[in-house]
Amino acid sequence: MFLWGAATAAYQIEGAVSAGGRGPSVWDTFSHEPGRVRDGHTGDTACDHYHRWPEDVGLLAGLGVDSYRFSIAWPRVQPGGSGPANPAGLDFYDRLTDALLAEGIVPAATLFHWDLPQPLQDAGGWLSRDTAHRFADYTALVADRLADRIPMWITLNEPFVHMAFGYATGVHAPGQVLLTGALPAAHHQLLGHGLATAALRARGAERVLITNNCTPVRPASADPADLAAADAYDVLHNRLFNDPVLLGTYPGLDAYGAALDCVRDGDLELISAPLDGLGVNYYNPTRIAAPDAEAAALGLPFTDAGITGHPVTAFGWPVVPDGLHELLTGLKARYGDALPPVYVTENGCSQPDEPGPDGTVDDRERIAYLDGHIAAMERAAAEGVDVRGYYVWSLLDNFEWAEGYHQRFGLVHVDFATQRRTPKASYHWFREHIVRRRARR
Ligand code: NOJ
Repeated sequence: MFLWGAATAAYQIEGAVSAGGRGPSVWDTFSHEPGRVRDGHTGDTACDHYHRWPEDVGLLAGLGVDSYRFSIAWPRVQPGGSGPANPAGLDFYDRLTDALLAEGIVPAATLFHWDLPQPLQDAGGWLSRDTAHRFADYTALVADRLADRIPMWITLNEPFVHMAFGYATGVHAPGQVLLTGALPAAHHQLLGHGLATAALRARGAERVLITNNCTPVRPASADPADLAAADAYDVLHNRLFNDPVLLGTYPGLDAYGAALDCVRDGDLELISAPLDGLGVNYYNPTRIAAPDAEAAALGLPFTDAGITGHPVTAFGWPVVPDGLHELLTGLKARYGDALPPVYVTENGCSQPDEPGPDGTVDDRERIAYLDGHIAAMERAAAEGVDVRGYYVWSLLDNFEWAEGYHQRFGLVHVDFATQRRTPKASYHWFREHIVRRRARR
């Protein structure tokens, strides 16, 4: 059955950062440091989902989704990042899971959506191999409690973005600026994925996925320098994370003058254990040119040349629905039979949505965005890509990382002063879309 769904992540919606014995995560630390997040916003309260989850499950039921993708906060389950489980933390997700199942909604749980317990960061974070083992221990605690009821597991969310923004450029937590020195954070996350997959399998988990942020890379021109730059970018953004999981090999990093020295014998076998699906998050394609002076000074073999000639979202991201078709057919072309079923685990756009005088939120740009992207996905499916799910990012307006509450991605508007939730026009549109697709089955 194809799954229509909506997605969120713990730090972006839960709030209640000290409730139920939760410990601090890297995002608590980072968002409280001056200048890190726009206007000093933090996830301290966010959508207060920790207290309002019954209302949010009601919104999902009203939306009529088949599945809900949420993330489990490691610092709720293991406040210090290691040791026994904090029962109150697991209780929260246990109640949420049962409430979803009672509504006939398939829970799809992400185990790591960037909120590493701060004590593990203090010990090196994902630069340290030990973090991969701690992640497997945490996964085992969660699966012991929930694998009997959660049928779909996503180990990591967007390890590329966590490595690049968290460790290479420092615009996300933990805020390190290591450039190619960030590469061990890629391997240790992937090792964590492999070890967590084994822990999930040992506990009978039904479906195990990883979610990668993927972008189709377009060279700025046919000039060989631009082609080489585009290839180097594709290696870093896409193949560094898809190849080891699907093929059991790392792409060469010569263009970066770097090597993954931290890979040990046996790691790639663990990382490439068979999966039941590949989660892909798609937002836009990337256009890449040969490095300009600034990129070259940083040792980067590419420049982001920007996509022009398309509408943009409030974030300034180009709206290119065809890019999703290009991405899905491109994955099939590269990986062939090694590509498991694909789930679009995130797709959506930020818009400056506010309720109008009559109280409704008329987000027609979001409807056009979703409609165009779903059509592109369905074209790829008709051409033979096995796509099994599509999740809108996001159910709710929420804490958009370094942008704080400034970017609204929700199908449901959240007034952060009152926590009032208002389903937008896109919520009603998506509900009707799901009904229409079900009628086709
Ligand atoms: C991907 C991330 O997984 C999610 O946390 C984020 O809010 C969206 N992209 C939008 O930037």
